[in-house]
Amino acid sequence: EQGPVIYKGLAGVPVDYTAVSKVNPETNSLLYRGYPVQELAASVTFEEVAYLLWYGELPDDTQLAEFEERERGHRGLDHEVKRIIDEIPLTAHPMDVVRTAVSVIGASDPQTPDDSREANLDKAIRLFAKLPSIVTYDQRRRRELEFVEPRDDLGYSANFLWQAFGEAPEFAVVNAFDVSMILYAEHSFNASTFTARVITSTLSDLYSAVVGAIGALKGPLHGGANEAVMHAFDEIGTADAAAAWLDDALAHKRKIMGFGHRVYKHGDSRVPTMRDALERMVEHYDRRDLLELYVALETAMGERKGILPNLDYPAGPTYHLMGFDTITFTPLFVASRVTGWTAHIMEQAASNALIRPLSVYNGPEERHVPVKG
Ligand code: CMC
Repeated sequence: EQGPVIYKGLAGVPVDYTAVSKVNPETNSLLYRGYPVQELAASVTFEEVAYLLWYGELPDDTQLAEFEERERGHRGLDHEVKRIIDEIPLTAHPMDVVRTAVSVIGASDPQTPDDSREANLDKAIRLFAKLPSIVTYDQRRRRELEFVEPRDDLGYSANFLWQAFGEAPEFAVVNAFDVSMILYAEHSFNASTFTARVITSTLSDLYSAVVGAIGALKGPLHGGANEAVMHAFDEIGTADAAAAWLDDALAHKRKIMGFGHRVYKHGDSRVPTMRDALERMVEHYDRRDLLELYVALETAMGERKGILPNLDYPAGPTYHLMGFDTITFTPLFVASRVTGWTAHIMEQAASNALIRPLSVYNGPEERHVPVKG
């Protein structure tokens, strides 16, 4: 007897429309609201991309100035949020800290139950503005350093680096960081975005949806891969050891982090742009050895498995060169993807249907509790 077809992992199953982004694995393209992501990375800032994802159009000069002023006004962290972060043990992963901080912000925001688009936009902009403070507060407390207050004379990425390291960042570094934020911002119905949409579909609130999305992003098959790439590089050491390390890892059936993709089978559309940014950072920090290792593992993986890198592969070493702790890489992904998540949350809310699929039961046949005594 033939049962219903199961689409394990929902692979290849379209579940709804979206106007936020389009992934086309055939042409290897990714469009945000119609614009190729490579063009956006080359010509606009991450703030403009956030505006585009939320409002559907790029801002004109007046709209951008208003938007930037609004974002800059929300960058600070309340004492209460800092106090709760301080209570979290240092053994906790930074993703658990970010997840908790977003939850605390949601729990103390009187606007939380208001699910109008305007209220949701307010919340999205506040989270977008505060995430750099959350991520850098945690990284600095782990380094036993004081929090660096945000600066409202700097753009998003320059301020992020300022808060992380307490030094005015150089233009080349700001630009490479901004490119990474733009590339990470949105990617259709990936696992974390879908999680956010599932939560939104029950008419829960935006913060709950973002908290759930952070949980989904943490895993190494999704956002956790950028951190895992760096751990692999640390294990390998130098370029000449890459092929042997890979053979051993594959013999032990290990997944090689930063390679492969559910949707792209001929290469991730975002990789060339991120790789250019990595190469600029390699020059800037004079670390050709890191690029050699990058190329050696990529080449060996191509030869052994024919599997190509995804965005996390060039992003991990780029963040490493900039001076971020490896365990902070996935929180950086959160800071960016919160824009895409919240765009999807608002889209889901605007044309909602409860997301509730079916399962096919394969447990024991009906049976009965034995009568005791
Ligand atoms: N290392 C080793 N083998 C791999 C890898 C990899 N990274 N990716 C795919 N394969 C193999 C896999 O073992 C399987 O082989 P076989 O058919 O012999 O069992 C085949 O390729 C198909 O893989 P799959 O896991 O069934 O494919 P999927 O569509 O379920 O997986 C993936 C996609 C991203 C989960 C997977 O490629 C993977 O685990 N990659 C490593 C983690 C990673 O880099 N994730 C980041 C994804 S993109 C950015 C993001 O969202 O953060």
